[in-house]
Amino acid sequence: MERTLIIVKPDAVQRGLTGEIIKRFEGRGLKIIGMKLMQVDRELAEKHYDVHRERPFFAGLVEYIISAPVVVMTLEGSDAIVAARATIGATTPSEAAPGSIRGDFGLEIGRNLVHGSDSVENGEIEVANFFSEAELCGGWARDVDRWVFE
Ligand code: RTP
Ligand code: MG
Repeated sequence: MERTLIIVKPDAVQRGLTGEIIKRFEGRGLKIIGMKLMQVDRELAEKHYDVHRERPFFAGLVEYIISAPVVVMTLEGSDAIVAARATIGATTPSEAAPGSIRGDFGLEIGRNLVHGSDSVENGEIEVANFFSEAELCGGWARDVDRWVFE
């Protein structure tokens, strides 16, 4: 089972889209094993986006992610990384497919609503950056699992 870190970004929380976004991942069958509302501090934001540190949009990206509360989730599932990113849609919302979260609710890259980890390795790293082990219900038995996972 893969794990992905999902961030419902400040614009999505402010716009009242948190429930809609959770619903899409739940409906897909991805299993929520951690979830909380939090205000990301600058240190964590810079760590999370460290790969983009040299990019011109880095400062604005950090300001955006710390500007208001976010909802962070750890989701588990077979192919969770690829499945979650498909549900999220292309980075630039104006180009994202209808039916994806960004394609249905977004227009601009700097207000693209949701983050999802981009590899299995980064999923593990990002989950550990945002959640302590005690905050994760890693082993919980969801009764429908046998109807979602083969
Ligand atoms: P995310 O990490 O948020 O899931 O998005 P992503 O993989 O689709 O995009 P990524 O390349 O990792 O970029 C991270 C976030 O940086 C902002 N960005 N702005 N102005 C720009 O050219 C630009 N490029 C990227 C976006 O908020 C993007 O989600
Ligand atoms: Mg990314």
